[in-house]
Amino acid sequence: MGQYRGLADIYDYLVAGVDFEGWIDYVEDILKRFSCKPCTVLDLACGTGNTIIPFARRGYKAYGLDLSAEMIEQARTKTRQEGLHIEFTVKDIREFAMSEPVGLVTCFHDGLNYIIREEDIAKVFCCVCSCLAPDGLFIFDLNAVSWIGATADGPVVIEEPDLTIIYETVHNREDGLWSVALTGFVREGELFRRFKETHCERGYAPELIKGLLSAAGFETLGVYDAFTFNDVHQRSRRHFYVARKSYECR
Ligand SMILES: C[S@@+](CC[C@H](N)C(=O)[O-])C[C@H]1O[C@@H](n2cnc3c(N)ncnc32)[C@H](O)[C@@H]1O
Repeated sequence: MGQYRGLADIYDYLVAGVDFEGWIDYVEDILKRFSCKPCTVLDLACGTGNTIIPFARRGYKAYGLDLSAEMIEQARTKTRQEGLHIEFTVKDIREFAMSEPVGLVTCFHDGLNYIIREEDIAKVFCCVCSCLAPDGLFIFDLNAVSWIGATADGPVVIEEPDLTIIYETVHNREDGLWSVALTGFVREGELFRRFKETHCERGYAPELIKGLLSAAGFETLGVYDAFTFNDVHQRSRRHFYVARKSYECR
């Protein structure tokens, strides 16, 4: 089964502890710091909408893009329930285009770690550069290389009355790839629905990402230890990047 198909209807339950409004508060602090006042936001790998819905609530014109039709379906339902308007598209972030320039492009919460080949990261950056307004910002996070494999290899079981998930993780320290085979059992009435899917992520070092940004036509304005304006360090778990089109590309 493909990634984020069987997982889609329990994803929000699994991330219930994450303060997504707080993430977007931090993004708005970054926007202030760089005097950027976008009206439109495009969120890449938006999943069930957790990282784009807060923007729509704050009055931004919002777009979301994700490869998983099941995740987008959840996002559309939540958006409708809140009476918001967000244009969602099922699309691979390695090959997308927008019909109008956007003032802010985001990609949060492991979205880019799912892109496991350097050349594909380069493709994402080129697509972003093509759709970003001249003075717009590209803000994204990446799990640190050291953090991505910090979970112990082997099975972990989460067992709750209506849900059991078995995670079997493998971290290849040589190529930085981390993969998890998930087997889930989700209660549906008297029965349990079983799903199996494999997820694969890769950690990237800041120097590599800065090089790829530059090659795609960006200047890197900052790389921060998540939710601060401090430089990243050895123990940083998540790095936040802020990039703007270089003058030649505007
Ligand atoms: C951990 S979820 C993050 C979702 C959302 N940003 C959040 O914070 O809740 C990662 C998302 O990346 C999406 N994804 C992975 N590879 C993708 C690709 N090549 N193109 C578009 N979306 C992708 C998955 O479908 C999934 O929804």
